[in-house]
Amino acid sequence: MRVLHVCTEIYPLLKTGGLADVAGALPAAQAREGCDARVLVPGFPALRAGILDQQPVAELGSVFGAASVRLLRGVLPDSGVSAYVIDAPDLYDRPGNPYADAANHAYPDNLQRFALLGWVAARMAEGLDPAWRPQVVHAHDWHAGLAPAYLKAAEHATGRKLAGSVQTIHNLAYQGNFPGHLFGYLGLPAHFFDINGVEFHGQCSFLKAGLFFADKITTVSPTYAREIQHAEQGCGLDGLLRARANDLSGILNGVDDAVWNPAVDAAIPARYDAGMPAGKRACKAALQREAGLAVRDDGPLFVIVSRLTEQKGLHLVLAALPLIVQRGGQFMLLGSGDKALEDAFRAAAADQPQSVAVRIGYDEQLSHRLIAAGDVILVPSRFEPCGLTQLYGLKYGTLPLVRRVGGLADTVVDASLENLGDGLATGFVFEAFDESGIGAALRRAFALYEREADWRQVQALGMRQQFDWDAAADHYAALYQQIATT
Ligand code: ADP
Ligand code: GLC
Repeated sequence: MRVLHVCTEIYPLLKTGGLADVAGALPAAQAREGCDARVLVPGFPALRAGILDQQPVAELGSVFGAASVRLLRGVLPDSGVSAYVIDAPDLYDRPGNPYADAANHAYPDNLQRFALLGWVAARMAEGLDPAWRPQVVHAHDWHAGLAPAYLKAAEHATGRKLAGSVQTIHNLAYQGNFPGHLFGYLGLPAHFFDINGVEFHGQCSFLKAGLFFADKITTVSPTYAREIQHAEQGCGLDGLLRARANDLSGILNGVDDAVWNPAVDAAIPARYDAGMPAGKRACKAALQREAGLAVRDDGPLFVIVSRLTEQKGLHLVLAALPLIVQRGGQFMLLGSGDKALEDAFRAAAADQPQSVAVRIGYDEQLSHRLIAAGDVILVPSRFEPCGLTQLYGLKYGTLPLVRRVGGLADTVVDASLENLGDGLATGFVFEAFDESGIGAALRRAFALYEREADWRQVQALGMRQQFDWDAAADHYAALYQQIATT
């Protein structure tokens, strides 16, 4: 099976969120199962620099306002997965964040930048690389949402289906909506600008295009697949998603064992596993020293690694910090994003330096040290398509405390008395998105921390959970079988 993943980030070369982790791990897992999975990415500087052995495949000339566009083919380091790179310096050769400038303003030509990505994907299904033509084009998030639309346009023009298409939603809140009058730049048939097509409240919506034109739609957990069919989490697209319910499924993300595994992790000061937990205590003490927290083990250390955005529910954590400190707990956050949240967390740390530590920024190595050191990892999201840090927490014996939403609901079992009794509990789960909701879950965490044997039981069960990519790869393979061209 020949599959082309169309995406914008790939761990470890370029990452702003969980999408990169998925794009780094899924094609590699598929390759291990014998699938010929490749990726197509824009030639952002970090990807141009990091993808090995890039060779020209085709010249595309001047398109989407770029003077000269080329398709290159190289290899991802570590995984050896083949990677096609769109070399279009006018559109992609900009430092930093791939979507926005240094002041965090979206680039004004994002429509052209990501239309080119979808367009090249469709050209590849037409045979742009004479040596390799995908049977399935797998578009990730809005950036790749036009790929299914260009494929459909080519199908109309040629009278034959060029490739099956899958649109995966990693986050429905990001839709890639642009002013409707720009539609002409896309070079799609005029009738595609329609409620049955690219048009969304008068705008061009890249994600809607993908959801409308793709043969299959997936998202990254079964619960989120259900939630987005209702108004509350549907971001205005719930009607379309309900209409396409038969083609929509939720496939849970996995954890890349080569990157996240406390038994071999080179980024943490001491390695450990479920049978030998001493290393975890050493990690906690080392982080406390590093962060200037009081070095002690008589209370739980709560950690967070997160983008600081509205989605993540972090105002609830700010509100709960006094409770954590009063009860003898400690807290450390690594994250960046919203300035007001950054300032509020910094102020809390300045107030209680023995108990609260905050690092504003993005730091892959420190994220491992935090997750290894924590007793509890907090993920109190308003919505969460899958969520990865709670899965890392489970693997590292760091009990997740999460809101019952999206992928969090699918991956963590609350330490209620009955779940403890039945040996099912792996963390703490709360429902109401308010201070009393998170407060009750925090009190359960403190209560369990006092009962060491029960804590160890929950921790050990969490560490034994399997969230490997092979299971996800099997599900995607079954989906591809239904839609692949020959
Ligand atoms: P989202 O994609 O919505 O941000 P996920 O939980 O799926 O949420 O993935 C977030 C990924 O980004 C995880 O791998 C997490 O460890 C990483 N991450 C988030 N913030 C930081 C940070 N400040 N430093 C290092 N890694 C981070
Ligand atoms: C998105 C979601 C997150 C998910 C990630 C990878 O960024 O916010 O929940 O884990 O994509 O699929």
